[in-house]
Amino acid sequence: MKVTVIGGGGRVGACAAYALQCGGLVSEIQILDANQAAAEGEALDLLHGTAFGTDQKIYAGDYAAAADSDIFLITAGLRRKPDESRLDLINRNASLFLQILGSIKAAGMKKEAIVFVVSNPVDILTRLAVRELGLPWQQVIGLGTMLDTCRFSSLIAQELKLAPSQVKAIMLGEHGDSMVPIWSSASVNGFPLTGLPCMNTAMQNKISERTRGSGAEVISRKGGAGWAVAISIREVVHAILLDKKCILPVSSEQQGAYGIKDVCLSVPTVIGRTGVLDQIEIGLWPREKLGLQSSARALQETFSKVN
Ligand code: 2OP
Repeated sequence: MKVTVIGGGGRVGACAAYALQCGGLVSEIQILDANQAAAEGEALDLLHGTAFGTDQKIYAGDYAAAADSDIFLITAGLRRKPDESRLDLINRNASLFLQILGSIKAAGMKKEAIVFVVSNPVDILTRLAVRELGLPWQQVIGLGTMLDTCRFSSLIAQELKLAPSQVKAIMLGEHGDSMVPIWSSASVNGFPLTGLPCMNTAMQNKISERTRGSGAEVISRKGGAGWAVAISIREVVHAILLDKKCILPVSSEQQGAYGIKDVCLSVPTVIGRTGVLDQIEIGLWPREKLGLQSSARALQETFSKVN
């Protein structure tokens, strides 16, 4: 399987390429970036590791070379300026993103190709990609709250001194301020987390809010995320590559689950080789369902302002 990382000369894209290389399942990785030197440098640095790695083909290339990609992973994006509003950033990133989509379309793509959006605001840009590319909506996926879910589970494990791999706690909705922590199904090795004596409402709120603010917490210290977002990206790519049919909180065009349509956000979504196989309306606490619907309204409001 070939993955082209559009924005692979930047931190998120390079970390994602490295995670895919270490994951050993993707056979070919193309690095594409507006900064050609950065793309070539990352591709060369990754290639240097292939002899002790898993024999992938790794190279820098342009959109024409990317036309045979199975997955277009889009991580390219602009960072918010200090005095810039979130909506101003959205409009600047939307403009850049539309150029990228235009270049993908102009160069051509396989009819079964999957477009996997990571760039922020990921839910807004995922919906733009559905609208602009003319692919079946099931073939356009956004990272959504995968990273938030990974952070949420990891922070719970840290707080409770548990094995992170045994903690399953999901975030749904927007990858942003209105994300919804789903405590109703949170578990550790199958045991409900809310059944733990220490897991009272105060503890739940503390961890939920730390998760919600984790992006800003990392940005304030090192300028931007890289490692956890790369691992989250790899989870989705491997689910596609292995046709896993696993349920992941990725962003996709909503078809009516929880009464939500006309927006891209994260609900429990079955992912396989052809992209989205199903969106499942798993039972939530009433306040969780209301939070999800509120998240959808917030995103619809923002999308209506994107020019
Ligand atoms: C994050 O949550 C900024 O979306 C990025 O780290």
